[in-house]
Amino acid sequence: MTVEAVINLDIDGPRINRHVYGHFAEHLGRCIYGGFYVGEDSGIPHEGGIRLDVVEALRALDIPNLRWPGGCFADEYHWQDGIGPREQRPVMVNTHWGGVEENNHFGTHEFMALCELLGAEPYISGNVGSGTVREMSEWVEYLTRDGDSPMARLRKANGRDEPWRVRFWGLGNEAWGCGGNMTASQYATEARRYGTYCRDYGDNRLYKIAAGANGTDYAWTETLMKQLGHLGCRRVTTTAFHALSVHHYTLTGPTWEDKGSATAFDTDEHYRTMVAAARIEEVLAGHAAVMDCYDPTRSVGLVLDEWGTWFDVEPGTNPGFLYQQNTLRDALVASVHFDVFHRHADRLVMANIAQTVNVLQAMILTDPDSNALVLTPTYHVFRMNRGHQDATSLRVDLRTAPPSRPVGDTTLTTLSMSASHKDGRLLVSLSNLDASSAADVEIDLRGGTVEAVDALILTSAALQDHNTPGSPAAVEPRPHDGAVLTGGRLRVHLPPHSFVTVTGGLATGSRD
Ligand code: AHR
Repeated sequence: MTVEAVINLDIDGPRINRHVYGHFAEHLGRCIYGGFYVGEDSGIPHEGGIRLDVVEALRALDIPNLRWPGGCFADEYHWQDGIGPREQRPVMVNTHWGGVEENNHFGTHEFMALCELLGAEPYISGNVGSGTVREMSEWVEYLTRDGDSPMARLRKANGRDEPWRVRFWGLGNEAWGCGGNMTASQYATEARRYGTYCRDYGDNRLYKIAAGANGTDYAWTETLMKQLGHLGCRRVTTTAFHALSVHHYTLTGPTWEDKGSATAFDTDEHYRTMVAAARIEEVLAGHAAVMDCYDPTRSVGLVLDEWGTWFDVEPGTNPGFLYQQNTLRDALVASVHFDVFHRHADRLVMANIAQTVNVLQAMILTDPDSNALVLTPTYHVFRMNRGHQDATSLRVDLRTAPPSRPVGDTTLTTLSMSASHKDGRLLVSLSNLDASSAADVEIDLRGGTVEAVDALILTSAALQDHNTPGSPAAVEPRPHDGAVLTGGRLRVHLPPHSFVTVTGGLATGSRD
């Protein structure tokens, strides 16, 4: 049965902020050390210790921003330990992640150099849980103040004359848990206090992000919104924070202790994973609804600064390092999230997948023995979807019911789609989540003319397929001949468990 859909090419939705394609790198396992940073003595090609093949792969995604140094680590991190000569930097224990020693060799200068190499904006998470207002305030001064001041002088003494530009600034992380075990009202007070002393220097304008809720804790969001004190139609006047965050992970297993294997799973587990992933729609809609009550003009941003799959670690690896493989199932989790992000473009200003290299739902896995670099199926979804960054969203309306199936006590819709246009090109993303049945979609493209289409497909024989150093291209995109345009109607064939992107030029005068 063919699903009928409609896209009105002449009815623009909100712009999709490129920052919803953002990333996250924590001092956790092999994300920084052995992932991004191999040190100046490494035989792996690097610049200042930063691994260049990782940089090159991420540049191909147009990576817009990188969140650092955590996560839970952020609320134990003292930035002054990570500046100055490396051999003199103090060592600390990374109590959250494996209890390993952290030598602070990757610090502020190394992170900012990484962002420059990536062409990505830094998103720095400050320490509220175990830090001080002064410490955070001085970090901002160190990074962004020009001219003569104690922290600007210290930065210059450490080899950087010019201030950096830093826009995104996190006021702690998961304050309800590892970030201090605070109540919402305790944290809201702290966020205002910390936010007050994070100053704008020169023309650098901070965009301060308060640590938000865990999943569906809408009461947390409401408490933060009340703190902003702008009930009704007034625009935000406070400078304490400009956005608030939320974290939502895709968990499949029955308990936290048994999250399931990343690669050895059956079809039922696949469907449970898809149900968990699709729940992001309810989570974002719920927080947005609460925010709408206090901020109807949508001047406060919602930031999903941690999302992705969380499975059991690979057998034989350190449980504190959160290293997991990445299959076609992970790719579909990502594609479903992006469709939801595009639908919530009016409130969602940023999202950061956890985490970029070697941790949780990674884009890149590096082999500690051979040093080989592997691009995951999730990486390919980011690549295929990069045309949505800063594009104008277009609604995809369904004229007939989409395919669905019962999963436990709920129903999973097994077809997911979204669309946008930018620079005179249409981009449609389509995911078939069904493990064994194909899906066919016919989209009535109204209000404009699409000239010709090209399509790419990401699929594989089995949902469990993944890339390894020995088989790095087991799951990778290839041209798809199952997208046919006839007289304003786009027919797309989606094999079981597949992700397809279709692009086409919009005829001059019909759009843009
Ligand atoms: O991404 C791993 C951890 O998950 C982060 O450190 C923390 O913020 C979250 O609980």
